[in-house]
Amino acid sequence: MTKPVILTGDRPTGKLHLGHYIGSLKNRILLQNENKYDMFVFLADQQALTDHAKESQSIYESIGNVALDYLSVGLDPEQVTIFIQSQIPELAELTMYYMNLVSVARLERNPTVKTEIGQKGFGESIPSGFLVYPVSQAADITAFKANLVPVGNDQKPMIEQTREIVRSFNYTYQTDVLVEPEGLFPKTETEGRLPGLDGNAKMSKSLGNGIYLSDDVDTVQKKVMSMYTDPNHIRVEDPGKIEGNMVFTYLDVFGREEDQVTIAEMKEHYQRGGLGDVKTKRYLLEILERELVPIRKRRLEFAKDMGEVYNMLAKGSDKARNVAAQTLDEVKTAMGINYFK
Ligand code: TRP
Repeated sequence: MTKPVILTGDRPTGKLHLGHYIGSLKNRILLQNENKYDMFVFLADQQALTDHAKESQSIYESIGNVALDYLSVGLDPEQVTIFIQSQIPELAELTMYYMNLVSVARLERNPTVKTEIGQKGFGESIPSGFLVYPVSQAADITAFKANLVPVGNDQKPMIEQTREIVRSFNYTYQTDVLVEPEGLFPKTETEGRLPGLDGNAKMSKSLGNGIYLSDDVDTVQKKVMSMYTDPNHIRVEDPGKIEGNMVFTYLDVFGREEDQVTIAEMKEHYQRGGLGDVKTKRYLLEILERELVPIRKRRLEFAKDMGEVYNMLAKGSDKARNVAAQTLDEVKTAMGINYFK
């Protein structure tokens, strides 16, 4: 029996942080270890190029960093196919055929793309590749006949657009070659969007308010000690607020079952007064380090041999390419354009 297929990817635009970890990486490891799925995880470098056309060198560097992030959180290339989007030309070819099934108006309506266009300040010069990236994302997903696509909430419109393309393709060519995927979304609001250390709505590279999986312990300590708490909690004896206090927000997210009693006691003590920020931060540091120590250890091991890391990506890309080529062949047959076969 064939296993359900899971596929997900990241744009390689920098190192991954705790927001990525809690919002997606951790769940990928759980899914991997369930052993029930055929899993693909990939670096969407072509998608990164749609708004960073000139920065191919830094995208290349990010590929190395993100691959190390993957390996250090425990993604296992023996169990999961890890690959690079640009090394699978079949994806671009599928994109070409799907584009004919999607109107320009539909592309312009995609809410995530709309928001991004506003944020990126393209002005009158929106790269056409950027507008079309949801179609290329549909190619990524359908090339592997993915059933489940674990992504953040901002990716809902992409899954929806992919489903439309699948229906349109299968209807137009009277086939069932393409598979309609389902999105798998974060369980809670905070998991889906971890706030930054400064209390800003989102941990992000551009805001400089994140803890990276590759940060060393001193850096993590400094960052935790600078976290936004309750600005009115001036003296230790003062009653403090836990709502909007990032230390408690993070304790709720990263605390395990066995930490819950301590966390509840600390919250109560903090609100009553008499518990200082330094103490709560030290405790949070412990909790975060429990998560980060094994990640850091694995990273050091893998980073010793970057050649081997790229080797792993090359092997994964070969494997992925075979799968995508098979789907492309079926697609062209369904379209009646496999002229020489
Ligand atoms: N758009 C996704 C992001 O920004 C990355 C991505 C590209 C992706 N292709 C995909 C995710 C296919 C899931 C499936 O995070």
